[in-house]
Amino acid sequence: MLSEIWPLFGLRLRIGDVELRLPTDEELCTLARLAAEGIHPPETMPFEVPWTDVPSPEQERNSLQFHWRCRADWQRDSWALPLMVWAGGLPAGSQGVRAAQFSLRREVATGSWLGSGFQGRGIGKLMRTAVLHLAFVGLSAQHAVTSAFDDNAASRGVTRSLGYEADGVGRKVVRDRVVTAQRFRLTRDAWLARDHPRVEVEGLEPCLALFGAD
Ligand SMILES: CC(C)(COP(=O)(O)OP(=O)(O)OC[C@H]1O[C@@H](n2cnc3c(N)ncnc32)[C@H](O)[C@@H]1OP(=O)(O)O)[C@@H](O)C(=O)NCCC(=O)NCCS
Repeated sequence: MLSEIWPLFGLRLRIGDVELRLPTDEELCTLARLAAEGIHPPETMPFEVPWTDVPSPEQERNSLQFHWRCRADWQRDSWALPLMVWAGGLPAGSQGVRAAQFSLRREVATGSWLGSGFQGRGIGKLMRTAVLHLAFVGLSAQHAVTSAFDDNAASRGVTRSLGYEADGVGRKVVRDRVVTAQRFRLTRDAWLARDHPRVEVEGLEPCLALFGAD
């Protein structure tokens, strides 16, 4: 019933033993706990919004509110899809994809995290591949962008290995310090020119109008 009215709940991406889907509220609690258990060493901050600095249980509550806000604020011209990532059946992290005026701009932006025990095993590359497949093949996007701070070798490793080009720098204030973010851009042609692991997409057709991709 829920996915009949809000078909995004029926959307599933599968790549190898990794599955991405919107979490139910119960799954969201699991995801929020996983984040609170640790994503990065406390002395580093990979996120532009330092949401992982918030102590428990406020951090978990903020995570729930973030996901609820994404659901509630969804519009065809401004959407954010924070998918939960399952690896080998275990809750592993989150891979988001978002866009503004997608029907005209045909551009998506991505952001992600994995629980620390799931990092460095190739899952980050698989989950980014899954949402890029959704964007370029499922939604006919023309561009995908992402960014990472200079010290984030893992995020930049995923980006580099998928063929993005440098797209300038951004200067952000994080924890009251100015930090440089490298921006990257991947075009549809560059994506289609390469082979990628197979991605299985389920439940997309009824979502196309919600994405502005019909
Ligand atoms: C960023 C993140 C999602 C990447 O996922 P991951 O599963 O750790 O990365 P993968 O194992 O898929 O690695 C992908 C590529 O990056 C490389 N890489 C991974 N970690 C690396 C590191 N610490 N240093 C250098 N290269 C690294 C891998 O070798 C691989 O390259 P290859 O395909 O050429 O072999 C994950 O590390 C994470 O959640 N980090 C903390 C949160 C974060 O930084 N989020 C992103 C904010 S911009």
